[in-house]
Amino acid sequence: MTTLADTWGINEAQFWLRGVHPDQPVQHDPDAGLWNVYGYPEIVQALSDHSTFSSNTQRLIPDLGRQFSSEGNLVQMDPPDHNKLRKLVSHAFTPKVVADLEPRIAGLTNELLDAVSDRTELVADLAYPLPVIVIAELLGVPSSDRGLFKKWVDAMFNSTNKVTLKARSKEQEEYFARAMEQVQELSDYLISHAQERREQPREDLLTKLVEAEVDGVRLTDGEVANFAMVLLIAGHITTTMLLGNTVLCLDAHPEQLAKVRADRSLVPKAIEESLRFFSPFAAVSRATWKDTELGGQIIPADQVVLMWVAAANRDPREFENPDVFDVTRDPNPQIAFGRGIHFCLGAPLARLEGRVALNILLDRFPDLRTDPAAPPEFMPAPTMTGVNKLPLLL
Ligand code: HEM
Repeated sequence: MTTLADTWGINEAQFWLRGVHPDQPVQHDPDAGLWNVYGYPEIVQALSDHSTFSSNTQRLIPDLGRQFSSEGNLVQMDPPDHNKLRKLVSHAFTPKVVADLEPRIAGLTNELLDAVSDRTELVADLAYPLPVIVIAELLGVPSSDRGLFKKWVDAMFNSTNKVTLKARSKEQEEYFARAMEQVQELSDYLISHAQERREQPREDLLTKLVEAEVDGVRLTDGEVANFAMVLLIAGHITTTMLLGNTVLCLDAHPEQLAKVRADRSLVPKAIEESLRFFSPFAAVSRATWKDTELGGQIIPADQVVLMWVAAANRDPREFENPDVFDVTRDPNPQIAFGRGIHFCLGAPLARLEGRVALNILLDRFPDLRTDPAAPPEFMPAPTMTGVNKLPLLL
């Protein structure tokens, strides 16, 4: 059987691995005007210290801040505001709420796969629609609008531009303006749904958000919309990548696929290993409040710092044989969901979707494999690692 590893260098997608030297876990990039952190212990240290490494990076990217308010945007918030809002939304993601979704996720996966015949483009047929329908149903926005979400989200991430804080080229400016337009459209869409819920409450997360109070004060429509936007964006493209990447990694390592087929109790471990080996959200950003020492370097105050969790997940100081994809890896302290107070709120949901979908794919398609004539396509954004298109033969 021809596998992807024979036809295409799987590690080529991991462009951020180039230029990463284990002996230089913290590097300044003067051209881009920011810092890169690649080392596992250094990232764990920084993500555990929110009083030095703030999540509010928008204050250092003024044009972004001007066009897009960070109010209600959980990912951009620091304590104490972050704790209050996080507590509020955590109720929507309790282990019970997530576990109760399993039959719906299985039903949707089967329904989506019923529509394919002897071949599939996995992203369009399953990996994109499944998580977006689940998160839209949780929020209470029509999942039939998913074509719109895709248009908005694609425009935000469909750029090969290197992350930079320095003067941008005309092309970068145009991309940025287009992305901001899409953010605005998505925000308007969510605001109109929030307004509707104030008048006509329903059993959904949007209603819970408009009715919730932080310190006795209700969230504004703008805050509700920003909050919902984080869930909608974070809640689907990453999980889309997780599903595609897991199938891709297993295909590229047939002996590992055989192990999982032979022992399904390995499915959760295969998902963890996929998250480590091909971390969907390759980097998260922070902004320093003060001068600080990290990995032997002094990072001054008011600097943007990119934490490359995808590179840390290959740090040989933490992982034995880090470039080997091993579905039996134990322990596997991968940090693809981040660390510290901003640890991914949706991690249990993403893991559940990954486990259910992979099991059903393995059940239904004993000969599932990549199509040697149609190589996969990858997300162009440098801080994302994931397939955009994954043609498969069934
Ligand atoms: C935060 C990754 C799925 C909602 C994060 C962070 C990472 C991450 C790295 C930390 C950001 C930071 O520290 O700045 C992922 C990956 C996923 C995934 C790799 C799938 C494989 C989801 C899902 C949801 C979700 C399904 C929602 C349903 C969130 C939210 C935050 C977050 C709300 C912000 C938490 C906070 O700031 O306190 N995610 N995520 N994510 N994620 Fe996820």
